[in-house]
Amino acid sequence: MTRRLQGRRAPARRKGKIIAIDGPAGVGKSTVGHLVAERLGYDFINTGEMFRALAWKAIAAGVPVEDLRAVAALAGRLKWEFRPTPERTLKTFIDGESVAPFLRDEGVSAASSAVAANPGVRRFMCRLQRRLGAAGAIVMEGRDIGTHVFPDAEHKIYLDADVDERARRRYRQLRASGAKARLQAVREAMLKRDLNDLKRKINPLSTASDAVVLDSTHLTLHEVAEKIIRMVRRNGGR
Ligand code: DC
Repeated sequence: MTRRLQGRRAPARRKGKIIAIDGPAGVGKSTVGHLVAERLGYDFINTGEMFRALAWKAIAAGVPVEDLRAVAALAGRLKWEFRPTPERTLKTFIDGESVAPFLRDEGVSAASSAVAANPGVRRFMCRLQRRLGAAGAIVMEGRDIGTHVFPDAEHKIYLDADVDERARRRYRQLRASGAKARLQAVREAMLKRDLNDLKRKINPLSTASDAVVLDSTHLTLHEVAEKIIRMVRRNGGR
């Protein structure tokens, strides 16, 4: 069943905790978030998918991504749904259609960076993400989840890694999915997106003052997930 988007007004009492994972591109947030959610019996959502989905839709509809008003208006016209897979990952559907096949395209990646810097879009996505997480029992990964979307999240992790290692991980991921890629080009595109995320005026990528910073350069993503699960359990989580 689709995870219910909780009402706009009444803040629902959370049935479980919120685990916010933020950090730069290619650091392994999705793999780690998914592993943590599966072990705790939580749902998992990669919020980058939401920006990518809107970027894809804008391109498909011929709306220029630089047109801030038009892109924000487009976001509001679409029917957003988040349907869980058997592994408890929430997948984005727009107007009843899965957006998964379109999200990793390089054009969509570049456009998603512009879409994510659009203030109207960020306000829209933040409202959507808050409604999605209102009941708790969710692992949410992105750039501003611990700093802005859920500043009261029970657990906040800022995941980091050396840029060369991040580029290698993203490169392997792309190759494994059958996409053509060159390591140097992947590294450059990644640095460009990082810079956009760090420098944008509204909700840039930053470390929440109460986040636990984990460097995954020399750890496997399973080891990182283990650390987070231990942390949650130490604090009385499931
Ligand atoms: O994590 P990703 O690379 O799939 O994210 C796509 C874009 O969306 C990227 O430019 C960062 C941005 N993003 C964001 O600004 N805030 C989030 N919570 C998640 C992603």
